[in-house]
Amino acid sequence: MRDEATFVDESLLKKVPRWRGYLEAKLGFRNHWYAVRLSGDVGEGQIEKVTLAGENILLKRINGKVYAIRDRCIHRGIPFSQKPECYTPDTITCWYHGFTYRWFDGVLSDILAAPDSRVIGNRKVQTYPVEEAKGVLFVYLGDEGVTPQPLREDVPPYFLDDDMAVEGHAYLVQSNWRLAAENGFDALHVYIHRTSPLLGNTQRGLPIGHIASSAHITVYEEAGEPKGVYDDFEQHSVVYDATVDGNVVVKGTRSSRPPGPESRSSGASTWLPCSARVDNFPDAGHYQFEWYTPVTEDSHYYLILIGKRVNSEAEALAHRQEFWNRWKPLSLEGFNNQDIEARVGLQTFYKDDRAWLTEGLIEADLPIMKWRELCHEHNRGIQTPDHIR
Ligand code: FES
Ligand SMILES: [Fe+2]
Repeated sequence: MRDEATFVDESLLKKVPRWRGYLEAKLGFRNHWYAVRLSGDVGEGQIEKVTLAGENILLKRINGKVYAIRDRCIHRGIPFSQKPECYTPDTITCWYHGFTYRWFDGVLSDILAAPDSRVIGNRKVQTYPVEEAKGVLFVYLGDEGVTPQPLREDVPPYFLDDDMAVEGHAYLVQSNWRLAAENGFDALHVYIHRTSPLLGNTQRGLPIGHIASSAHITVYEEAGEPKGVYDDFEQHSVVYDATVDGNVVVKGTRSSRPPGPESRSSGASTWLPCSARVDNFPDAGHYQFEWYTPVTEDSHYYLILIGKRVNSEAEALAHRQEFWNRWKPLSLEGFNNQDIEARVGLQTFYKDDRAWLTEGLIEADLPIMKWRELCHEHNRGIQTPDHIR
């Protein structure tokens, strides 16, 4: 679905008919749910400013529930966040002329400097639906009046399962969100992880490259279900001995553990609007969930969550401790930091829209192409600068 004006050169878009909507989506897609913060980032009564796909939004938790409004007064456009004023727990007052809005529905309830104005009760600031699940705050970036699809359609399968315990941390990364989504799903990019301390810690293997083919890729596009692409690593042919001029110059790490998920990750999948799931990573029996939420054209909110199925509070606590003591220093900061470095490098090239047509993808980049086509086919709208103005 696409009906907004484009802001990418039409001559470029014509050249990629199968993923045109993806090339347009430098600010992401509309009418989808996005992970914007961890629950703990917004305490009771606290106001948090977020930028989502270029839109400045304020979050506030009131009696446990988080509400979201546009960070822009309808009177003269001042950002509330410059000097937030809240005279009651459930209202926010613009510091310039005192327009006061309710957090619940955005309605203008009072004007401190003009208490008899006829507009009181008749106008509102934009609000956004918010949902909180698994310790993550999701905001629906959509058109007012549109009923949001259920959150479960916009998150990777398994994420919302009752027995899935997740722990995570987030980073602001200086690259477009699409480079992050593609980096996470890029079968060849394991090459950059060959030096990660995670490999020695887990005694797991990592090839120099995975070679994907269409036989290994499953596209999920059933109506009413999450839309994604799954790449089955166990079917890939893998490269362990990398050669130049026939001589081995780099070797992948072979696992000392039994073959199968014990020895290496079994697959990766990427999901609309901007998330991923890596199975049996960073170790067997774990799932890594990631979000690459667009912030601006040049930055994204990179949320990494490690999930594990648990049967008790004690197991959930053990998972929490393992996340902070082991996975955060070793995997987030010893493995995924290598991904961040790559995305920042990619950004220098891809910030120019023409780069998407002069890149030189090869056969083994098929998963990336499948992802682009899925996004084109199934997105619910393109975010454009018109939505930000
Ligand atoms: S700009 Fe906000 S009250 Fe006037
Ligand atoms: Fe990676």
